[in-house]
Amino acid sequence: MSVPFYDHAGLYLAAKDRIDGAIARVLTSGRLDWGPEVPAFEAEFGAWVGAPQVVTCGSGTAALKVALLGLGIGPGDEVITVPNTDIACSSAIRFTGASVVWADIDPASRCMCPEAAAAAVTPRTRAILAVDLYGQPADLGALRALADRHGIALVEDACLALGAEFEGRRIGSIADVTCFSFAPTKHLGAYGSGGACTTGDAALAGRMRRIAAYGQSREHHLSTFGGNGSMLNHETDGLNERLDELQAAILRVKLADLDATLARRRTQAERYAAGLAETGLDLPREVGPVRHAWRNYVIECDDRDGLRTRLAEAGIPTNTPYAPPMHLQPVHAALGFGPGSFPVAERSCARLLGLPLGPHLELDQIDEVAHAVRAAL
Ligand SMILES: Cc1ncc(COP(=O)(O)O)c(C=O)c1O
Repeated sequence: MSVPFYDHAGLYLAAKDRIDGAIARVLTSGRLDWGPEVPAFEAEFGAWVGAPQVVTCGSGTAALKVALLGLGIGPGDEVITVPNTDIACSSAIRFTGASVVWADIDPASRCMCPEAAAAAVTPRTRAILAVDLYGQPADLGALRALADRHGIALVEDACLALGAEFEGRRIGSIADVTCFSFAPTKHLGAYGSGGACTTGDAALAGRMRRIAAYGQSREHHLSTFGGNGSMLNHETDGLNERLDELQAAILRVKLADLDATLARRRTQAERYAAGLAETGLDLPREVGPVRHAWRNYVIECDDRDGLRTRLAEAGIPTNTPYAPPMHLQPVHAALGFGPGSFPVAERSCARLLGLPLGPHLELDQIDEVAHAVRAAL
């Protein structure tokens, strides 16, 4: 049996008729831009997440940029985030002109440690950018309280955590802005790139919507559509970071399958937990009042590289998501952080190993991986 890490073609073929129908609907409508699919997806996604406002974007990275710009963050400001995450977090902060301030993580959740974040607050801090790593929500209760205490924004990077819950509530309406990714390997994967910001603040949503769309409102653009209007009306500087009509139509199809996808991921995680229980490996678990979204199943052990090599020899693919940490990446060398700067994140990054998990896999493939892991120890 083979265990592919991803299988985009297989998942497409399983939903081919519905996907092809959505693509044909857009192409035959002639509306490739500013059409009805994006607002329809935003309404459906908002209803699913439980968020009053959804601003779709061109990617998760774009969503982070749009969120920070919408909050008015810029040169002279500081944003606190974690080192063990995607480059998108530090890049989005630096894109605004603000400075990245890293805070170390909690070893169990592998998300931002609220005490470390509190210690990193300065008079220049404007936001906390917490990451729900691998689908495990950050400690949103403590971080919300910290942000409120200092009058700063809480931005949540939920690019890996669509469908996760905190205190019984789906993430997407707890932070001031929650950012999602619709990259192909995510819970809700486009056939290209996509992302979204959700918020309960209508004024902030309006600002983010304009920033993502040339600094211009959809209403104004539509009023000039087809050459009828005479005036451009750019209210702010803007990016071209919108979701496109084709991706929105595809995501509307896939949204209908999201509950089933999440349930399948959860069952696979439970199967790994049972199959690896006696191994002595550090297994991922739900930390705090959360429901994990299981985007990744990431174990930890001291001999990570040896285990990875032996699994590769047995034909089992693995990955090392978000390692090495950001403060040790060449792009940030000028900031001067060496090994030992964020010891908890560094230890996790040196020990972590991602196992295959996802809707393309059957439970007997999960069993095969668990068996191979046991044999490789
Ligand atoms: C934690 C995190 N944030 C942001 C992103 C960026 O999302 P995108 O690839 O859609 O730009 C990713 C992508 O994997 C991610 O894992």
